[in-house]
Amino acid sequence: SVPVILDVDTGVDDALAILFAVRHPGIDVLGISCVAGNAALAQVVENTLRILDVADAPGIPVAAGAVRPLLEPARAARHVHGADGLGGIALPPTSRRPEPVGAVELMRRLILEHETPVTLVALAPQTNLALLLRTYPEVAGRLERIVFMGGSASVGNATAVAEFNVWHDPEAAAIVLDANVPTYMYGLDVFNRVAVPHDVAVALGRGDNPVGRVVGALLGHRVALSEDERAEYTGLIGDAGAVCSIVDPNALRAEVRPVRVELAGYGRGQTLVDLRTFAGEDMVHGIADEWANVEVALEVDAERLARLFLDTLGLGDVV
Ligand code: BDR
Ligand code: CA
Repeated sequence: SVPVILDVDTGVDDALAILFAVRHPGIDVLGISCVAGNAALAQVVENTLRILDVADAPGIPVAAGAVRPLLEPARAARHVHGADGLGGIALPPTSRRPEPVGAVELMRRLILEHETPVTLVALAPQTNLALLLRTYPEVAGRLERIVFMGGSASVGNATAVAEFNVWHDPEAAAIVLDANVPTYMYGLDVFNRVAVPHDVAVALGRGDNPVGRVVGALLGHRVALSEDERAEYTGLIGDAGAVCSIVDPNALRAEVRPVRVELAGYGRGQTLVDLRTFAGEDMVHGIADEWANVEVALEVDAERLARLFLDTLGLGDVV
């Protein structure tokens, strides 16, 4: 199975991603690092520990990382994830505690001690990854690759052009792209498409399966799951899709493209993805030469990933 470290800002869809990763036999979660993003850091840590209780995964170490982005203040996404970061679904408190060491130290240890190269899965602003790569550059050579949810080759969500994770800490994302590690971008182009149908989420939320009830509540967090509010339901599995892409890469079409993070002006936080077809002399300006080459997911078989998500959680036959 693929050894991974998850970097999260739990977060409704980070919670779904953690549940999936822990349950999938093809993934070995070595540890989880937390960062400020969807919610404040302390809340992210608490949410992460609680969701690991739901997943019945007591042995996975969790560490607290950066309390804010490299340059800017933290700006939680309460309008999307609620004041508690989990859409107010009220998971039971946990008796578990985070590691005594911070996220950078935990990640370094897990990466250097593991006998095979580790995949770093970033589902949040990339502050922890940037600090890790700057503090211990030797870890770069021990990574299989970085898979990150973030960015977009088209529209944004935090701004017209910027996706939230990159927008929250653009300098960190730029540092990570500059680290010379093979990188896979699971951006909004695919993120916005993979969803569980409304009636399935309703059935899960009302069912007997304890994990299913939590998944149903997370999927439906923005609306009471009633008929009149149905129009607002999105059912996106979100960050979980990025983890799904690791075990079923053929459900997506990705292209290796030059990518760069815009750091200034109205476009701050945008991932510029060079989608031009380079045919010899077309490349007169050679702009792409200094840009990082990233495998960018552009299309997805959304139903296939949503099915993989539900089946892995043992929820495939609910409806
Ligand atoms: C990303 O930002 C957060 O709201 C989600 O958890 C996801 O990682 C989407 O832009
Ligand atoms: Ca996230």
